[in-house]
Amino acid sequence: MQQKIIILDFGSQTTQLIGRRVRELDTFCEILPYNKFPADDPDVIGVILSGSPFSVHDPKAFQVDLTQFVGRVPVLGICYGAQYIAHTGGGCVEHADSREYGRAHLTTVDTANPLFRGFETGSQVWMSHGDTITALPAGCHTIASTADVQFAAYASDTQPLWAVQFHPEVYHSLQGKQLLKNFVIDICGSKQQWSPASFVESTVAQLKQQLGNDRVILGLSGGVDSSVCAVLLNRAIGDRLTCIFVDHGMLRKNEFQKVMDAYQGLGLNVIGVDASDKFFADLAGVTDPEQKRKIIGRDFVEVFNAEAHKITDARWLAQGTIYPDRIESLSITGMTIKSHHNVGGLPKEMHLQLCEPLQWLFKDEVRRVGYQLGMPERLIKRHPFPGPGLAVRILGDITRERVRTLQEADDIYIESMLNYICDDGECLYDKVWQAGAVLLSTVRSVGVMGDERTYEHPVALRAVTSTDAMTADWAHLPYDFMARVSNEIINKVRGVNRVCYDISSKPPATIEWE
Ligand code: XMP
Repeated sequence: MQQKIIILDFGSQTTQLIGRRVRELDTFCEILPYNKFPADDPDVIGVILSGSPFSVHDPKAFQVDLTQFVGRVPVLGICYGAQYIAHTGGGCVEHADSREYGRAHLTTVDTANPLFRGFETGSQVWMSHGDTITALPAGCHTIASTADVQFAAYASDTQPLWAVQFHPEVYHSLQGKQLLKNFVIDICGSKQQWSPASFVESTVAQLKQQLGNDRVILGLSGGVDSSVCAVLLNRAIGDRLTCIFVDHGMLRKNEFQKVMDAYQGLGLNVIGVDASDKFFADLAGVTDPEQKRKIIGRDFVEVFNAEAHKITDARWLAQGTIYPDRIESLSITGMTIKSHHNVGGLPKEMHLQLCEPLQWLFKDEVRRVGYQLGMPERLIKRHPFPGPGLAVRILGDITRERVRTLQEADDIYIESMLNYICDDGECLYDKVWQAGAVLLSTVRSVGVMGDERTYEHPVALRAVTSTDAMTADWAHLPYDFMARVSNEIINKVRGVNRVCYDISSKPPATIEWE
């Protein structure tokens, strides 16, 4: 049995954060759309209702049948969740005179209640709501108040039901972690059994059962997700896993060989396909970024499918899809559920079934699983790299010559980052989310080398800090590092006579230039 907490998502921006907090308590959880409670799942030990952009009075407000779980397992309503429980239980929710946003302090708190064990009076919480509860439902009592919010938290007298109008999941609720710990561990009875080791053990057992003697195909990219997925499957089914790694010719310098060597060192059965001629031929003369992406995407599917078809007895296609890729959160503007993120290219006529063993993991959990599997640190800590590779880092059309030039500049930059050790002992590469060089091949500027005038291209260096690539800031790299890298690139890379550093954040810029 895998104990789990279900988080029902009513569209709040902090729902994922609730999920992270629960996982930090070594407890498995699933975030599901508000109306998708798995009524037949015996492993559910508790339910959390998230916040929402709606008021409970909004005609479009999301409704859920609380009887599916209230009284069966412990329930915690947060913000809208708390107001929804009050509203449907006969309490009263009204528009607040002054919207309650930001910092507040619990002026009274019932520390004898298991939800608030370990709390202090005055504890700072974070409010974010336009409505407020003005009367509790029958059979409930207040367990915390702030100066402005009488019913900041309440509990049922008879059922395992709690509700808080503040957000315990956000950092600014200073004892929020304690509250979630009280709920998940003490109230729901989590045995805190989720760990990378237990994940590997249970997933390998599950994969063995699911896949039997079937053959599985997996597309490798060199990235951490697909690599961890491959090693996990290899543990379960050994050589019945065939990995396909396509070289489109726009990887980093020597990367195809380096990654192939690393995979073989891990005992994976990998077919490396050099399809660079096809990609370069199809990209010749194409300058539009979207057009480039489309061609690369289409060619990739063609090459992958041609290889996959050679494995005639394959029954499954495995993918390294992770939780943030597929999370079915609510799109607040469109009111639609995001469609499952499926990295295109499933060869339909092969009738392959999809196998996604990492589908419940967050990125840092994938990395922890990678360590657990004994994978090399450099593979696990590798920066994200775009599918179309250096093609989206070369302005204008793509030629082998331009790719070679960029590979040289990029290699100097990245190797220097790996070799630059910061004061705390960590290398600069590990301090940033992602770094790479961009060849501004549509731009030329004048320079002088020796006694000669040059008229060549600039290279832009990009390095960003981020947690999820949705937003990013430019990394403040040390000046001595930048000076050294600039010198080395200009001196060693033919065709480049100038180096710039990109100081744009995302938004409004993006991480990649194209
Ligand atoms: P942007 O440029 O949109 O990138 O800020 C966000 C993150 O996604 C990566 N990226 C891609 N990854 N195929 C991929 O597999 C792509 O076409 C692609 N475009 C961007 C980018 O490197 C960054 O980590």
